Parts: sequence; C-alpha cells; structure tokens
Amino acid sequence: MHKTPDNKKSKERPVYPLNQDGGNIDAANHVTGRSIYVDDIPAMEGMLFVKVFDSPVAHGIIKKVDFSEAEMVEGIVKIFSCKDIPGENQIGGIIADEPFLADHEVDFQGQPVLLVVAENEDAAEDAIKKIKIEIDPLPVITDPREAFRQGQFLSDSRKFVKGSTQEAFSKCKYIFEGSAESGGQEQLYLETQGAYAYPTEHNSVKIYSSTQGPSQVQRTAARVLGVGMNQVEVDVPRLGGGFGGKEDQASAWGTMAAMTAYLLKRPAKCIPHRMEDMRMTGKRNPYSSDYKIGLDEEYNIIAYEATYYQNGGAAADLSPAILERTLFHATNSYNIPHVHVTAHSCKTHLPPNTAFRGFGGPQGMFVIESAIDHAAKRLNVEASLIQRKNMMDNKDEFPYGQIVAECEAKHCWDEATDIYNIESVRKEVDWFNKQNQFYKKGLSLMPVCFGISFTNTMMNQARALVHVYNDGSVGVSTGAVEMGQGVNSKMLQVAAKCFGIHADKIKLESTNTSRVSNTSPSAASSTADLNGKALLDACNQIKDRLISFVKTELTDNEDQTVEIKDEVVYINDEPSIFTWSNLVRQAFMKRINLSAKGHYATPYINFDKTIEKGHPFAYHVYGTALTIVTVDCLRGTYEIDSVQVVHDFGSSMNRAVDLGQCEGGIVQGIGWMTMEEVVYNSEGKLLSNALSTYKIPDIYSVPKKLEVKFLNTDGSDMAILKSKAVGEPPLMYGIGAFFAIRNAALAFNPAATIPYSAPITPEKVLMGLYSKHGK
Ligand code: MTE
Ligand code: HPA
Ligand code: MOS
Repeated sequence: MHKTPDNKKSKERPVYPLNQDGGNIDAANHVTGRSIYVDDIPAMEGMLFVKVFDSPVAHGIIKKVDFSEAEMVEGIVKIFSCKDIPGENQIGGIIADEPFLADHEVDFQGQPVLLVVAENEDAAEDAIKKIKIEIDPLPVITDPREAFRQGQFLSDSRKFVKGSTQEAFSKCKYIFEGSAESGGQEQLYLETQGAYAYPTEHNSVKIYSSTQGPSQVQRTAARVLGVGMNQVEVDVPRLGGGFGGKEDQASAWGTMAAMTAYLLKRPAKCIPHRMEDMRMTGKRNPYSSDYKIGLDEEYNIIAYEATYYQNGGAAADLSPAILERTLFHATNSYNIPHVHVTAHSCKTHLPPNTAFRGFGGPQGMFVIESAIDHAAKRLNVEASLIQRKNMMDNKDEFPYGQIVAECEAKHCWDEATDIYNIESVRKEVDWFNKQNQFYKKGLSLMPVCFGISFTNTMMNQARALVHVYNDGSVGVSTGAVEMGQGVNSKMLQVAAKCFGIHADKIKLESTNTSRVSNTSPSAASSTADLNGKALLDACNQIKDRLISFVKTELTDNEDQTVEIKDEVVYINDEPSIFTWSNLVRQAFMKRINLSAKGHYATPYINFDKTIEKGHPFAYHVYGTALTIVTVDCLRGTYEIDSVQVVHDFGSSMNRAVDLGQCEGGIVQGIGWMTMEEVVYNSEGKLLSNALSTYKIPDIYSVPKKLEVKFLNTDGSDMAILKSKAVGEPPLMYGIGAFFAIRNAALAFNPAATIPYSAPITPEKVLMGLYSKHGK
C-alpha cells in the first residue's frame, strides 16, 4: 500500500478518536462543517418546495379561503387544502384531536391551513401573500385558569395521593399557601424543523426528517396518506438539536413533505424559517399552580397539596404525558408523608405545547421549591434547613408508590455543601451585602431527583441491528437519534467494548425505520440506556457465535476461555494468532451469521393508572446545585457568579459528553428561569416571535464559574454500563437561579414583593426591589 500524504488520512477519519474522558465522535465534523443535516442532503432533480399558509387568527370558523390568485403566481405547482388529504386529516399522537390542515375551524394562530407547493421558495412566499382567508372570530383563551373555569380540557385530570393531607393539615403547626407560575420556553434548536421526501416504488415514500421520533413521523405520514407504515420509510441523519421540540412536532413537517412527494410524484422539501418555526410550533407548557404546605414545629414537612393548571395549547400533543411527569416530580427530592397533588391539562388557543427537556418535571419542582422558600421566609430560617431536613432516603415511598432505592439525595447534598463550603460562602455573601449598598448577592441550594424511564411503560423498549462485514468493519443501527447529546458516541463505545475492537472499525448508521422499526422517540433521557442495552444484546449474539466458532472450529477445545481484546483473540489469557479481522473472515467462510438484531425492554417497571401507583422508573438521578448571583439593585440586572454542582452520573462511560450535557442543561435551565419569556397577546399572537424579542442565554449569561463534580458511586445496573442517564436532570439545577436572585433582591429590600413567577426577568426584579409591601 502506498502512503497517503501526511495528515490527509487522519483528517478524513470516519471517526473522531475518543480519549480517556470519552469525547464526541461528531465533534470534528461539527466544527468543520462536514456533519450532514436534512437540508444538506443533495437535492434531487425536480425538487419542490413546500410552504405553509397558517391561520392569522387564534380561534374562529373559516368562512372562505380564496387562493385563486396565489395559484397564478409563476412557479406555483399546487396548493393543497384539507380536501386533498388522501387518508385521515389527523396528526394527534396521544389523542386524535389535531387536524393536519385546518378544516372548518382554526384553534391557534400559526395553525397550518394550506400547503403551497412551488418550484422555488420565493414563488411559494409570493403566493402566500396573495391568499385571502375569511374567519368569523370566536373568543380566545390564552390563560389556563380561564380554560379551567370554562371546562376546557385536553385530557382527564390526574391526581396522586399519599396518606391523608386533610387529616395531616389539622395537626400541622405551620401552614402556608400560595401560588407559583412558570412560563413557556422555546426549544430553539439551531436547526429548525424540517423534512425532505421523495416518492419510491410501489406507491411509497422515503422521508428524511429532523425528528426525535422516526416512527412517529412514519405512523403520522402513513395515516395522513392512507397507506401502511411499510410504505413510509423515515431516515434521520442527525439533528441540530431537538430538546423535546421534535419528539412529536416533527411529524407535521415530515407529513407535509411526504404528502407532496406522494401526490405529485416529485421530491419535496419542507423546512420552515426561524420565525415560522417559532410561530407555528409549541413550546414548554407554562403552568399556573397553587400550593399548600404544612410543617411541624421542627420543620418537618408533614403535608403538601398542589394543583397544577397546565397551559396545553389547542391540542393534546404530549401534554397529557407531561402532566403526568409533573405529578411524578411534585415532591422533588423530599419525603413527605401526606401528599395530594392534582393536575389539569387546560385547552387554550395557543400552538399545542409540547415536550421540553425535563418534560413537566421542572414545572412540578418549581412549585415545591416555591412552597419551601415561602415557608422558610415566613419562619425566618434558611430554605436549606427545611430542604435538608426533609430530604428523602432509601425505603421512603414516592407519592406514586415506588420505594426509594440506591438514593443519593443526601449524599449529593452533603458533598456539595461540604466541598463548596456552604457555611463560609454564606458568610462571604453576608459580608458582601453589608459592604455594598447597591449590589447584593444571593445564594440558593437546589436538589434534584429525576426519574429515568418513559412514564408510559410500553415505550421503554428498543432495538438495534448490527452487521459485522466480512472485512471486519462493523455497521451499527439503533433506534437512537443523535441530536447533539452524544448518543452515537456512546453507542460506538458499547459496540467497541463488547467486541474488543477499536472505535475506528465501527460506523454509526443513520436512524432508519426500515433497519430498526417501532422506535420509541429519543427522549426521556433514556436513549442511551434503551438503545445501548439493545445494542449490547445484538453485539453479544455475534460475539457468542464468534467465540464458539473459535472453540469448536479453530481450536477444537471447548473448555478454554476465549476473549477479544484490542482486536486480538486471547485464548486462555494468551494472545493467539487470530486477529478480529481474520477471525471474522474465517467465520464468514464457514457461513457463520455475522449480523444480529438486539432487543431490550426495561425489566421490573410498571404503573397502574387506575390507582396511580406502581414502579414507573428504572432508577433515579440525583444531584445538588449551589448557585450564587449578584444583583445590580439600581438596574434590576443580575449576573450568575457561580453554579457548583455535585451530580450523580453513576459510573460515567463518557465524562466529556456527560459533562457537556450537564453544563448545557444548567444554562438552559437558567434561561428558562431568568430571561426566556414567551409572550402571547390576548388574541393569541406570539409577540416574542424572533431572537430580537426572545432572549436566550448567550456566552455572557453563562455562570462565571460552572463547576460539576462527579459523585463517586457505582451507578445502577439498569443504566447502560452503569452510566446513568444525563440528558434532562441537570436542567432543573437552573431553578436555583430563581431563588438566588430573589434572595439577593430581598437583601436589598426585605419588603420586596417578588412573586414566585418565572422567569424572574430584570424588569420583575427592578419592580420588586422598589416595592413597599412585601410578604
Ligand atoms: N443535548 C443536545 N445537545 N441537544 C438536544 O436536543 N435534548 C435533551 C437532552 N440533551 C438535547 C440534549 C433532551 S430533551 C433529552 S430527553 C435528551 O437529551 C435526549 O437524549 P438522551 O436520551 O440520549 O439523553
Ligand atoms: N418523557 C419524555 N418524553 C416522553 C415521555 C416521558 O416520560 N413519555 C412520552 N414521551
Ligand atoms: Mo426530552 S423533553 O424527553 O425530548
């Protein structure tokens, strides 16, 4: 073989090398622009562009739609309305309550009404301006409590009960009641929604989709086209972020491209621009909640009640499942003997709200943290005293019946307060506040306990397909979607470790419904656990065949131990003459099956909705964050000085990726709690409809110090290689920023009125700082 010119080869390695901290195999391709997203897939000849004409009114009856003038625009190929749908006009995932294209009624501004198909995007945009729609307006509800009053629900209300709060409250020394609000949050994935589809043989379509849920897109498109799922192939190269926003809501865009390709027999692309995406898609559900907390004289929390009014938007989407997770996390890391929590999914005239990192968990946790803070302020003690005193431990029972096990709540808390020196930090903060009149510091501690598994037990399954090619290289397909969270790197590590071969022998394939079917969406932080275990199953099957081949055919001795390490076959702990590649070659010559399909279904878990009890989670992830902030009390602005965390990663299989997830989650959580403000006016029009009016954290709003310590534990057997799920839990550390800022404001003006209403924007802080009547 002749040598390739220097460096060229290494630059073009298919796989970025991992080091002892792990790393992300996509990193080099991302930063050099080589990674392929949906819009990078080479366009086929004759490709059409699909643009959406969406409702300008939040609620009303469609009287007339006139697109005759629009059809005359040069380059327009077709304008589809709901009448052109070959199958069912239905895209609802959990509940069939969402039309694909509006029929006689519109229920939110931004609801798709027509699809404008053109030879080029400009023509489609010109045509959209010429469409006339007449809508008889109906009353618009944007507030969940108003929807509740009017009996407008998306799904049945739910309640979790443990003990008897009614009885317990009568014995409590202290009782506090109040309300808490948390706002929406735009997923703001860097890559907007989108899909590219083309017709294939036998009346079928292939869709390239930017989705967390390839099988969701497949099922939805098949339903709307009126064909079998086997006629729709969905392929996902990777996502430029999903954050929950593409768990269900990618389906509409995939279906738009698919229907066009299917009906017009031409390739079609449908990718909204940022403002279209922001206007038409749902966000994190805002919540408005009431709480009642009761404590005894030693500050033990005896009873807790809460009622959550979830702003679901105009269709159920994932809101019923999100509602459920709010209840699961209602008591965060605390053991409370008497709990009664009720949740209502309220129907409003906003775009259907949907999954966002944490999936209702953060909303539930914000309420209990508000209740504890409320109690602490009135009792004139540190919130941390009540938090630590009531922290859960092994053998306690969650309100949903699961028994707490392998609990690391106190371990994380105690380690955080110890290594980050909480006592001296408090003194420094007090000293700073005495020295400074117009700058005040505040701190908070935020514990997190997050359940890992889809709350719907059925969804906790996954599959993988592995091919060992006869040159020794390996192709891995799983149901996992790479969205920046590094799951491909983890899958590669699983296969490399199991086979005893190097990472550069393995290629991670795109996620494809024809290779791996019936996938659960990549979500619930469970992607690596579920798909990794399915992959392990597939790899083990092939490895077992190879090892038994060595024993029976190559050495004729079944009693020896055979292992593969560093691509060398070891027999009885001694390196043999066989390498991975020649072993594979010989096995192939003997017609050994070098492919396998793996399957995994999480054992033990269950949940009985009729009694709202069970064991829904494979395990829990724990941690504690210490947040310190400085508020400028003349301006109401603030900076996050530091976030210092002790987090339970189990035994992390990829510290670089896990640390990145932790840091990203924290910053995203701080954004939700402090600056990201989704604003709709009373007509249901999104005012924060672009990055000029919707502020997300930038490099200047990242904490000046962000420290994450890996808790020293073994990890759970239910986690892949004992490396615990990490995608969502860290987001909830961001809740600490709310309370730290509020505490700083109270240091300036103890009478400041700052309601438990997130985000705590500089405007709210400023108004609170100069208010006269505090609580
Ligand atoms: N990290 C990046 N970079 N991009 C994402 O879209 N999504 C988050 C989290 N981290 C996301 C991310 C969400 S909402 C979830 S549920 C998990 O990743 C999903 O991936 P996992 O199951 O592999 O953790
Ligand atoms: N978490 C995240 N996504 C989900 C869930 C869940 O529990 N259930 C359905 N989709
Ligand atoms: Mo994540 S909200 O479960 O996609």
